[in-house]
Amino acid sequence: MSARLAVVGGGVIGSMIAWRAARNGWRTTLHAPDIDGAGTSVAGGMLGCAGEGRPGEDALLEFALAARDRWPALLADLEGSGVDTADIMVAADTLLVAADSSDSGHLRAVIDHLAAFDMRPEPVDRNRMRSAAAMLGSGVRRGYLASGEGAVDNRALLAAVRCGAHSAGVTVTTEKFCRIDDLDADQVVVATGSWAPDLIEGAPVTAEKGEILRLSRPPSAPPPPDVVVRARWRGRSVYVVPRRDGVVVGATQYEAGDRADTAPRVGGVSDLLIDATELMPGLAEYRVAEIGSGLRPTTPDGLPLVGRCDDRTVVAVGHGRNGILTAPLTAEIVVDLLDAAPSPPTSPWVARLDPRRFA
Ligand code: GLY
Repeated sequence: MSARLAVVGGGVIGSMIAWRAARNGWRTTLHAPDIDGAGTSVAGGMLGCAGEGRPGEDALLEFALAARDRWPALLADLEGSGVDTADIMVAADTLLVAADSSDSGHLRAVIDHLAAFDMRPEPVDRNRMRSAAAMLGSGVRRGYLASGEGAVDNRALLAAVRCGAHSAGVTVTTEKFCRIDDLDADQVVVATGSWAPDLIEGAPVTAEKGEILRLSRPPSAPPPPDVVVRARWRGRSVYVVPRRDGVVVGATQYEAGDRADTAPRVGGVSDLLIDATELMPGLAEYRVAEIGSGLRPTTPDGLPLVGRCDDRTVVAVGHGRNGILTAPLTAEIVVDLLDAAPSPPTSPWVARLDPRRFA
């Protein structure tokens, strides 16, 4: 009889771990109290390395780059499991742009930093920028194209991974429980993002809240861009990510304080609308389809916590702004760790992401 695994957390990370583990023979139950995947359902879906690369976050960028390399195999695997992946990829490239001279200086510093990681987004002129994103306004001063840095539809991805999990025999339950000890399983994986401290006492995860918008395109309005557009815009950051029927605009970021306060803030929503419509004036004709907010689970050093807490419990949380991009690598590390036990796992990331590293 195969061993029983309980994966707690129904977002993309928990669902991907459950799918991979079930394929490797674990009798897996996915505990998904939020059936829509909480944080996953309010993401932009960028597979962002250049776009998220920030001076001072070198280890995170290395992790992101390693994760990016897993995406072609992930999509092929989903297809191999009979899952339709046609709606998952929504953009293949990213345009990085800046508004005023201070924004351009900020963007230039990021571009210089990326060169150390052998990433060289190409400077592009206004014509080239507008051929990728015709809606770009006249306020854009400088731009670089990060070729191959695409984006996925977060909700289509989660549906596809859940479908793969279902085909692999994963049972999904929304039943509530209070303690890990209450779960009837040989091994437990906790992938509950910002809620990890509720199950693992003292887990060093805090929540950063952010507002995000979904805008739908009426037939008369200009089409969404072909690329992800990420802008440094008058001292703030804004991104516009295409969807089949419109765009996602994100995202604000600030310390959450109270995790129960999930309502979007008026100030955050208004900043996003102002910045997005200055960046792309044609968006003013779109409809506001959804105003959302989510919590990014963050850790003291910016790297996630992935690894063993005790003989029965493995954790995979704290992915901050990069949960979707890094989900395939996270699932690979966790499933290697489960399969290898009691031998030590082989991934070089295991020591760097050790959840007990702050103890
Ligand atoms: N990865 C984009 C965000 O967290 O807003």
